[in-house]
Amino acid sequence: MPTKTVAVLFGGRSVEHEVSVISGHQVMDALDAAGFGVLPVYITKQGDWYAGEGLHNLELYREQTFHAAGLKNVYRVSLSPDRSVRQLVVHPGVGGGLLSKSPKLWADVWFPVIHGTHGEDGSMQGLFELVDVPYVGSGVLGSAIGMDKAMQKRVLQQAGIPTLDCLVVSRAEWDADADGFVKRVESKVGYPAIVKPVCLGSSVGVSRCADATELREAIDLALELDGRALVEEALTDFIEINCSVMGPPERASACEQPMGYEAVLSFDDKYKHGGKKLGSGASGGAAPSGGAAQSAGMAGQRRQVPAPIRDELTARVQGLAIDAFRAIGAGGVVRVDFLYQERKKRLLLNEINTTPGSMSYYLWEEAGVRFDQLVAALVRIALDRHEVKRATAYSFAANLLTR
Ligand SMILES: Nc1ncnc2c1ncn2[C@@H]1O[C@H](COP(=O)(O)OP(=O)(O)O)[C@@H](O)[C@H]1O
Ligand SMILES: [Mg+2]
Repeated sequence: MPTKTVAVLFGGRSVEHEVSVISGHQVMDALDAAGFGVLPVYITKQGDWYAGEGLHNLELYREQTFHAAGLKNVYRVSLSPDRSVRQLVVHPGVGGGLLSKSPKLWADVWFPVIHGTHGEDGSMQGLFELVDVPYVGSGVLGSAIGMDKAMQKRVLQQAGIPTLDCLVVSRAEWDADADGFVKRVESKVGYPAIVKPVCLGSSVGVSRCADATELREAIDLALELDGRALVEEALTDFIEINCSVMGPPERASACEQPMGYEAVLSFDDKYKHGGKKLGSGASGGAAPSGGAAQSAGMAGQRRQVPAPIRDELTARVQGLAIDAFRAIGAGGVVRVDFLYQERKKRLLLNEINTTPGSMSYYLWEEAGVRFDQLVAALVRIALDRHEVKRATAYSFAANLLTR
């Protein structure tokens, strides 16, 4: 088989932009090691696309703004939804001209390594579906459910997978009747409560609240960052356990216990006293090299792999992680995060990440799969899925319009 070239997309219009730049570079290095051709595609914070060899260089992303001018072998590009185009088109330079394709920028497989909005949420996957190219990871539906914490809980509960119930409020509902919503929280959830934006990640906008004043402030903040916020019981006395799943065919990795010192802080601690650190727990899945500027939780990530838990609990986590992967219709590699209360022997699925930080490679290494083997497997899964789709007919002679 001739060498396949994999376009790796990183950056993106997301609060997790920086983490994605790191994960993207890790994936490009792994694809290099696996013998693939690599086409770096960087998407700026504003959503502009650039492609070219010269972008595989972490140094370019250290400044707040990205400067393409003067970079060798870097082009401003677009991916057209038109199925006959199929490759990136290069924007005309100064002085006009036409959009054109360039053989230097051809890719056989597309590998989005974008965390969060406009990358992990089904939108980019939708573009790949229209273009009709093989792409790594979950499809439109799996990505969308993986991104929406409230919808995810409904799907998981339907599949018999334990998660915490939550209440959801939209910006319009909050503006119309904040008092009514606070009352509902107080009767159904109580304090302490956790507030989260429904569709964000990396603990951005997640706060713990001890009373109504903190609850209101936390919801105001979450609704600045997202159109909907959810509120659920805040657990105390728990550990976090994460496990990755790859497929199809589905298999589970080793488990990790994130040991971050950066807890989800109360609203007061986080926003008024400059980030005092408390308690246990942290967001999972940072790049092991740290450096995620936007999130202390990510940058401060420490973990124990394998998680120091009983074999029986490891097996339960792995089994539920595979069930969840299937329930949301995921593909490629995901990380499934759990909360566990030892005293009550209560295991709850917290969330699924369909584009996990560093693609969870460190969990697969522990399971005997090297990073280069992991990315090669992901490319194979993408090609197989595309092949299966090809067998689907998209036209049907209905004769409705023939004379
Ligand atoms: N119900 C909860 N009770 C206590 N801590 C929680 C709860 N839900 C989340 N957390 C903590 O907040 C962190 C971030 O929440 P999470 O749901 O994972 O959002 P994100 O998508 O931002 O990572 C978790 O890793 C965990 O430490
Ligand atoms: Mg998380």
